[in-house]
Amino acid sequence: MARMLTFNIFRFNPQDEGSKPKMQTFKIEETDSMTLFIALNKIREEQDPSLMFDFCCRAGICGACGMIINGRPELACHTKTKDLPKETTLMPLPVFKLVGDLSVDTGTWFRQMYQNSESWIHTNKEFDPNAPEERMSNEVANQIYDLDRCIECGCCVASCGTARMRPEFMAPAGLMRVARFMVDPRDQRDSEDFYEIIGSDEGVFGCMGLLACEDTCPKDLPLQDQLGYLRKKMGITAIKHLIPGRKG
Ligand code: SF4
Ligand code: SF4
Ligand code: FES
Repeated sequence: MARMLTFNIFRFNPQDEGSKPKMQTFKIEETDSMTLFIALNKIREEQDPSLMFDFCCRAGICGACGMIINGRPELACHTKTKDLPKETTLMPLPVFKLVGDLSVDTGTWFRQMYQNSESWIHTNKEFDPNAPEERMSNEVANQIYDLDRCIECGCCVASCGTARMRPEFMAPAGLMRVARFMVDPRDQRDSEDFYEIIGSDEGVFGCMGLLACEDTCPKDLPLQDQLGYLRKKMGITAIKHLIPGRKG
């Protein structure tokens, strides 16, 4: 017999002056191969058309559907109800600005992070449209590809204790962006230049290293390895700062 599922969902519309934060309970019957995306749509279609949540691709690609599912940041479109208990609590991702109910504005946060982390190739080379393509080894290309797979879902940011305490912290997704440009041979910045960006408590030294980000990234980005690498590299640069006449 199909299970009756209970969803306790955070409700609040910041646009509505009369709205107060509360939890609201919905019950639906589980169907075969049901995902949380399907369940939320069913609730919206059959019980409350005002329920706000975000979805776009339904395939773990766009990153729009991150939410806190029973206390853990996850993608709702990738969550099957058969893997959930009969009763589930859904909250919006913290850190990001609340749009309403389960919908948050990750775009503004990521845009700011890209600016703060100077997330673009820095080079003094003149662009020559007739020049042949620059070659890159497969190994480096794969490394860049691996770090570029972030879908901006915000799950790692929401799971990060420092990001929740310190709004200026670049958070795991921001530190990964810096790591991505560090391995790119087209970027001419050196360790000193990167130190200016992440050599502080708002950067890699603010990371407590407990790796909730690694546990929650739905794309399995190598956060643990990269955070360790950045910490080591920036630690060495910090020591060089203390030695007169040395430059890293
Ligand atoms: S390891 Fe660092 S970046 Fe990752 S969740 Fe913890 S404090 Fe945040
Ligand atoms: S690093 Fe992973 S968890 Fe963080 S925003 Fe990118 S895809 Fe999402
Ligand atoms: S809807 Fe695109 S990742 Fe879930």
